[in-house]
Amino acid sequence: MMWALALWIFPLLCRFGLAVLPHKPENISCIFYYRCNLTCTWSPEKEANDTWYTVKRTYLYGSENDTCKSENRASCSFFYPNVTNPDICTIEVEAQNTDGIVKSSMTQWNLDNIVKTEPPEIYCVKPALGVKRMVQIKWRRPRLAPISSVLKYTLQFRTVNSAKWLEVNFTREDISIIQTYDLTGLQAFTEYVLTLRCAAEESRFWSEWSQEKTGTTEEQAPFGLDLWRVLRPAEVDGRRPVKLLWKEARGAPVLGKTLGYNIWYFPENSTNLTETMNTTNQQLQLYLGGETYWVSVISYNSVGKSPEATLRVPPIHEKSFRCIEGMQARPTQDQLVVEWQSSAAEVDTWMVEWFPDLDSEPSTFAWESVSQARNWTVQQDKLKPYLCYNISVYPILQDRVGEPYSIQAYVKEGVPSAGPVTKAENIDVKTVTITWKEIPKSQRNGFISNYTIFYQAEGGEEFSKTVNSSILRYDLEPLTRNTPYTVQIMASTSAGGANGTRINFKTLSISVTEIVLITSLVGGGLLILIILMVPYGLKKPNKLKHLCWPDVPNPAESSLAMWCGDDFKNKLNLNTEGNRILKPHYAPSDLTDKMVVNFGNFLEEVSTEEPLKYQKNIVGGEKNDYVTSPYMPSCPPVKSFQEPLVSAKILPIKPQSLCVGMPKGTCSEDKEQLLFSGHHFCDEGAPNPYLKNSVTMREFLTSEKLPDQTKREV
Ligand SMILES: *[C@@H]1O[C@H](CO)[C@@H](O)[C@H](O)[C@H]1NC(C)=O
Ligand SMILES: *[C@@H]1O[C@H](CO)[C@@H](O)[C@H](O)[C@H]1NC(C)=O
Ligand SMILES: *[C@@H]1O[C@H](CO)[C@@H](O)[C@H](O)[C@H]1NC(C)=O
Ligand SMILES: *[C@@H]1O[C@H](CO)[C@@H](O)[C@H](O)[C@H]1NC(C)=O
Ligand SMILES: *[C@@H]1O[C@H](CO)[C@@H](O)[C@H](O)[C@H]1NC(C)=O
Ligand SMILES: *[C@@H]1O[C@H](CO)[C@@H](O)[C@H](O)[C@H]1NC(C)=O
Ligand SMILES: *[C@@H]1O[C@H](CO)[C@@H](O)[C@H](O)[C@H]1NC(C)=O
Ligand SMILES: *[C@@H]1O[C@H](CO)[C@@H](O)[C@H](O)[C@H]1NC(C)=O
Ligand SMILES: *[C@@H]1O[C@H](CO)[C@@H](O)[C@H](O)[C@H]1NC(C)=O
Ligand SMILES: *[C@@H]1O[C@H](CO)[C@@H](O)[C@H](O)[C@H]1NC(C)=O
Ligand SMILES: *[C@@H]1O[C@H](CO)[C@@H](O)[C@H](O)[C@H]1NC(C)=O
Ligand SMILES: *[C@@H]1O[C@H](CO)[C@@H](O)[C@H](O)[C@H]1NC(C)=O
Repeated sequence: MMWALALWIFPLLCRFGLAVLPHKPENISCIFYYRCNLTCTWSPEKEANDTWYTVKRTYLYGSENDTCKSENRASCSFFYPNVTNPDICTIEVEAQNTDGIVKSSMTQWNLDNIVKTEPPEIYCVKPALGVKRMVQIKWRRPRLAPISSVLKYTLQFRTVNSAKWLEVNFTREDISIIQTYDLTGLQAFTEYVLTLRCAAEESRFWSEWSQEKTGTTEEQAPFGLDLWRVLRPAEVDGRRPVKLLWKEARGAPVLGKTLGYNIWYFPENSTNLTETMNTTNQQLQLYLGGETYWVSVISYNSVGKSPEATLRVPPIHEKSFRCIEGMQARPTQDQLVVEWQSSAAEVDTWMVEWFPDLDSEPSTFAWESVSQARNWTVQQDKLKPYLCYNISVYPILQDRVGEPYSIQAYVKEGVPSAGPVTKAENIDVKTVTITWKEIPKSQRNGFISNYTIFYQAEGGEEFSKTVNSSILRYDLEPLTRNTPYTVQIMASTSAGGANGTRINFKTLSISVTEIVLITSLVGGGLLILIILMVPYGLKKPNKLKHLCWPDVPNPAESSLAMWCGDDFKNKLNLNTEGNRILKPHYAPSDLTDKMVVNFGNFLEEVSTEEPLKYQKNIVGGEKNDYVTSPYMPSCPPVKSFQEPLVSAKILPIKPQSLCVGMPKGTCSEDKEQLLFSGHHFCDEGAPNPYLKNSVTMREFLTSEKLPDQTKREV
């Protein structure tokens, strides 16, 4: 008995467990595509395989019924003409698979509420003649829309450059095919994109959007202009260059295609001297007189003229007011913010000018007015990185423009593109002066905060010294005698440093002072020799003369009498001031003083690098190292001899660098000091007869870079 029961229940259980009925169709939704079909959909949309749906419908208010079948698809349609409105239908969906049938609940549909029409078709968008800021839209009423119904519309529109749609709703009762709508409140001279959809007033379904159409509003007379000027100092002929600049007022919409600008200007008190000019550019170069001028600019398009922008050009010597006390620029993420402080509460308009700081004339000059703020923000993409900008802010009080406050700023700093050009000067035994040039502005890429000098003796340790950016020379010491060194200068910005090229030099093995000491000793010896010769020379001058100057036949007739002591002193002073050197000449009181030194050839030999253009034809020529002259009590000017002497012996170099002791005196250790006393003198730069004979000196001068020494002082 139990077994029989079990045998009977088991297949039942099995069958129960395996049987999978279809889901119950839910959320039935029907759309009546006008004059086309009635399509119903339901969920679940995805059914297991092998499900058949039967949609049972009653229509003509329940008097008729039909069905529609679909397989594995949650959608089914009834077709025109078996679907017409007005009507109320009932819809019931049956889902069936091999395991059974599941019915949905009964739903009821008023076709008027679910009718969906075709979209309307816009065929024309154009500005209405004479009406500003408006376009008129024309479209066709959809063919497939209930004739009896009032249609409601939504119009969407946006300017071509914007992504944001605006919309307006309206209805149309009339059933004429061509319908129009005037869309107002637009911007002038702007292109718009429009699209339209409609629905029967009772329906909850909108048509699709129509195809987009574009149309442009009419032009309008332009808004005002912003006007600015760049003043430059008057030229020699008294004309004053004034560059006028203008542009559409900031924030003003573009209301049309600007065809040109009219400019007129006149001196303040003579309006009958008004000049007018027309241009299509946005700038104009004027040449004005020194008095106050008024300048006006308007722009015009096909519709009309803008209001005039007026500017006062101050007279040349007007003192402008100053009211900005401080200014800072700081780069933020993607912009540069410039802020300034001013105590003048009444000033609320400012003009900001900015242009790149380059060695050449700036090519881009930009300006912008700021009002009701004491800051100005510029997007970084308007400024180039690694470029220094001069930013000036002018206060503006009514028609007066005050003194600008200027700063420099980088949007972004970088490492300099090149290091400084470096030179070693005044190379001595233990010291050297390193000089360098500022990096050209175009290569700085940032504010140079400091320079670092790296120097290193051959095979030795590297040292460095950092100096601030205002310093362009530095004395290195102590160095080692007679040693090759390398030096390199690094210029740093906040972004990093860049090294200049490495230079080499070698310290001297013997210093100038040491040489001077040696020469003085040698020279002293020679002087003593001469002094010993003096008595002999006085007794038998001809003999001495013959000895020293054999080729000049009769020096006694020369005009060396001009050489008087006072005169010499004056000339020497004059020489020092005028950076020229006259060979000393004076009335000799003893033989020592009668010497005129021919040093020209020597200097020429020494200073090959120097642009020393002194003439070498010195009295007496090469051989006349010593000139003797008979004593002359007065100084009669004898031009024939004096003039060539003076002109020939002007040496256009500074009386410095060489200092040579003469007999009886010793030259001061300070080689820059000019010595002159009594019968001995020390003329820096003036040649010394003994030098020519000094082997040491000659060697030094040619091999140890005397030119460098000279150059430093020139
Ligand atoms: C039917 O629609 C309702 C509301 O829209 C939703 O909550 C529900 O999940 C839907 N049912 C199915 C089976 O999709
Ligand atoms: C019903 O009509 C609409 C509109 O014309 C159409 O898009 C859709 O394909 C039609 N449905 C069927 C099943 O034909
Ligand atoms: C069920 O449908 C899937 C695709 O949806 C198909 O690959 C599969 O063959 C179908 N099975 C049957 C039994 O029809
Ligand atoms: C559908 O109509 C037929 C006759 O056309 C009728 O016999 C049948 O009962 C109707 N069914 C329903 C559910 O109204
Ligand atoms: C409309 O209904 C009739 C009668 O039920 C049927 O014969 C005809 O095929 C249907 N027409 C369409 C397009 O479904
Ligand atoms: C226009 O109508 C739509 C649909 O009724 C509505 O969502 C929208 O807010 C309406 N727009 C305006 C501007 O009234
Ligand atoms: C111009 O006219 C103004 C006002 O009449 C007067 O104050 C000013 O002195 C005049 N300037 C010259 C240069 O005549
Ligand atoms: C402008 O007017 C002044 C007087 O108002 C007169 O002296 C001068 O000649 C006029 N200049 C011209 C160019 O008409
Ligand atoms: C400039 O244009 C205006 C009209 O726009 C005209 O009246 C005037 O004569 C023109 N002036 C010159 C110098 O061309
Ligand atoms: C600039 O000034 C305005 C007005 O004073 C203020 O509202 C704004 O925050 C300032 N902007 C910046 C970046 O400081
Ligand atoms: C040199 O300038 C750089 C960059 O601004 C800075 O980091 C460094 O500390 C400065 N060095 C000295 C010694 O001031
Ligand atoms: C410049 O050269 C010195 C050594 O001469 C080195 O220490 C330094 O790092 C270099 N700087 C740069 C930026 O390369």
